[in-house]
Amino acid sequence: MGRVTENVHGLRKEERMEQYAIQGGNPLVGEVEIGGAKNAALPIIAASVMTDETVHIENLPDVRDTNVLLEAMQDIGVLVNRSGRHKVTINAARINNLVVDGDNIRKIRASYYFLGAMLAKYKSAEVALPGGCDIGCRAIDQHIKGFRALGAEVKIEYGLIKAHAERLRGNHIYMDVVSVGATINIMMVAALAEGQTIIENAAKEPHVVDLANFLNSMGANIKGAGTDVIRIKGVTGLHGSDYAIIPDQIEAGTFMFAAAITKGDITVKNVIPKHLESITAKLLEIGCEIEESDDAVRVVAAKPLRPTQVKTLPYPGFPTDMQPQITVALALSRGTSIVTESIFENRFKYVDELTRMGADIKVEGNTAIVNGVAKYTGARINAPDLRAGAALVMAALAAEGVSTVEEIHYIERGYEDFHLKLQALGAQIEKVSSDRDMQKFRLKTG
Ligand code: UD1
Repeated sequence: MGRVTENVHGLRKEERMEQYAIQGGNPLVGEVEIGGAKNAALPIIAASVMTDETVHIENLPDVRDTNVLLEAMQDIGVLVNRSGRHKVTINAARINNLVVDGDNIRKIRASYYFLGAMLAKYKSAEVALPGGCDIGCRAIDQHIKGFRALGAEVKIEYGLIKAHAERLRGNHIYMDVVSVGATINIMMVAALAEGQTIIENAAKEPHVVDLANFLNSMGANIKGAGTDVIRIKGVTGLHGSDYAIIPDQIEAGTFMFAAAITKGDITVKNVIPKHLESITAKLLEIGCEIEESDDAVRVVAAKPLRPTQVKTLPYPGFPTDMQPQITVALALSRGTSIVTESIFENRFKYVDELTRMGADIKVEGNTAIVNGVAKYTGARINAPDLRAGAALVMAALAAEGVSTVEEIHYIERGYEDFHLKLQALGAQIEKVSSDRDMQKFRLKTG
């Protein structure tokens, strides 16, 4: 099995060569509890360094990306205390290094949130250029444009982005593209800049709103988050906070599509149904039944799936992070669907893997023409990135026969206990790391 070690602060360092072994064919049925949003947790963790006071964060997802970010903070002298699996206390009063360049940090995209957070507080930050999933060219020009508009000098040297400022002053900033990351980074810097900043064409994603709420809970003055114009009045300092992260929209959406793909009946609990509207709308279009309550959504897939058209768009449009999951469902529908990816240009890499399971999909540029097939069959497949990895696991759960999914470290970047949550819904899925484990799995699942 993979080695799991713990450092002094209780953060898990994991090295593994594990795979998922999956025996498909069971409809997934039952309830699943959704965790805190990874994409909200990452900027909130980074923004915790913007005060010298202690910040308590709850509903933190225990996934690799958040753990890597917390470790990177410890490397520069931030005190991080995990008081439970989903709770962390952060104190950044004694940061001793404004250069964030550890080995781990280069692997995750959200490392660039340290730029905004540290530039805001210390007027200086140097951070390794971001990595993350290889889903297309992931430019950072809008982040740089925003930092410069607020008075920083920014340069890229020796693999680091370096931002320094004498003074940070509010400005009127028009974003050329709707960018979650750039909106968040600019919001952090503007929160501690002098005067007012207006961000036009801002991203409206729930995690942008969550970060604004978190910063406001620390004493910032941010209005309009969740609309495309955000107004920020700079304040001179921020204080500590107790904050609970919102539920993960994409984890919830993934399990909702797991119901559709496996012809199951799943209730996702601890969600904000409003954040799931574009996902719910598509599930209804393809023939699923939906029941909504205040903090749960039930998806029942009793009828054959119908084809549809879908185009990924910034929130409140259909999320790019749900594109592989809906494609896996549509490839099992009765008819032809068109899936258009308008956010990232390289997000159909998983289609080759799905084809090996029997899917009939033709990709032309940013469009996939998906001809529904009656079933998938088990195969040995690779997770090419986080969301596509999760989608391929769901394809394997619907497939006839046994599959293995490799490179599951991608999936663990963003899904906590993915296979355990699936097991609780009746999935036959296990982590294996040797031929012996695989034999045992085959014997057990027959
Ligand atoms: C975030 C999410 C990711 C999600 C994406 C879109 C995190 C950690 N990641 O990524 O899961 O898929 O939003 O919802 O929250 N762009 C530029 N210049 C820039 C920045 C972005 O041209 O400076 C372009 C990108 O190439 C892309 C589009 O804008 O085509 C959207 O990217 P962005 O919203 O910034 O995505 P991320 O914040 O990286």
